[in-house]
Amino acid sequence: MARVQDKVAIVTGGAMGLGRAASVLLAQEGARVAIVDIADEPGKQAEKEINGAGGEALYRHMDVASEEDVRRVCREVAEKYGRIDILVNNAGISGSPKPTHEISVPEWNRVLDVDAKGVFLCTKHAVPYMKKGGGSIVNISSVYGIVAGVDNPPPYLYHAAKGAVRMMTKSDAVCYAKDGIRVNSIHPGWIWTPMLDQVGKAAPEGQEEFNRRLQKHIPLGRYGEPRDVAFAVLYFASDESKFVTGSELVIDGGYIAW
Ligand SMILES: NC(=O)c1ccc[n+]([C@@H]2O[C@H](COP(=O)([O-])OP(=O)(O)OC[C@H]3O[C@@H](n4cnc5c(N)ncnc54)[C@H](O)[C@@H]3O)[C@@H](O)[C@H]2O)c1
Repeated sequence: MARVQDKVAIVTGGAMGLGRAASVLLAQEGARVAIVDIADEPGKQAEKEINGAGGEALYRHMDVASEEDVRRVCREVAEKYGRIDILVNNAGISGSPKPTHEISVPEWNRVLDVDAKGVFLCTKHAVPYMKKGGGSIVNISSVYGIVAGVDNPPPYLYHAAKGAVRMMTKSDAVCYAKDGIRVNSIHPGWIWTPMLDQVGKAAPEGQEEFNRRLQKHIPLGRYGEPRDVAFAVLYFASDESKFVTGSELVIDGGYIAW
C-alpha cells in the first residue's frame, strides 16, 4: 500500500521547485494530485510527467491571491474526485530584499497577498470539503518565519509573510482539530529551486559568491534539494503523522541550529 494511496491532494505552486517535487512524490505514493499555479507551461509539463509515469495529476491555472480562482478550483477538484484530503500551501514569492523603510506599500501588498493571503484563501476554500472526512494541510513557511537573517539580505517583508504562515498554522490546527483536519508547517532553509536561482542572480556580490557565502553558513555544507522537503510533505500528508498537528518542521541542513 502506498503512503497516500487514493488521497486527493491540491499542491499550490506545483509547477516548479518544491511544489513540483511534492506533487511528483505524492503521486508516486498513490495520491491524485491537482497541481495549481500561474505558470501554465511548467504546470502542464508537471501534469504530463506524472501521468506519463503512471500517476494521476491534473493542472489548473489558479492564482492563490484570487478568491475567485481558489473557490473555482477547490470546487472543481472536489466535484471531480469527491473530496479533498490534502492541501499543500506551497506557492510563494520572495519579494525584493529591502529593509523595512525602503519597502513600498504595493511591494508589501504583493508579497503578503501571495504568501499569507494565499494560504488563508486556499485553507478557507478547502476546509469545507475536508470537514466531511478530515484532512491534512501542509503550509510551507520558511526558516525566515522563525528567525531573522543576519548573514543575508536585510530583514524584509518575506519574514513577515512567513511568520504569519507559521502562526496561521498553529491557530488552524487548534481550530480544526475537532474536524479531524491536521495543520502543520514546514520551514525550509536554502533549497536549490528556481526561486533561489533568481535570488542568487540578483545578489549584488554575484551569484557565485552568494552561493559560496551562504553555503558556508549551512552546517551540512550545501543547499538542500526539493525532494528533501517533499519527503516532509509526504509525511505530514500521510496517516503516519495522524497524531501530529500544529507542529513546525525545520529542514535546513542545520542553518538555524547555531
Ligand atoms: N527555495 C528555498 O530555498 C525556500 C526556502 C524557504 C521557503 N521556501 C518556500 O517554499 C515555497 C516554494 O518555493 P520554491 O523555492 O519552490 O519557489 P519557486 O519560485 O521555484 O516556485 C514557486 C512556485 O509558485 C508559483 N507561484 C508564484 N506565485 C503564485 C501565485 N500567486 N499563485 C499560484 N502559484 C504561484 C510559481 O509560479 C512557482 O511555480 C515558497 O513558499 C517559498 O517561499 C523556499
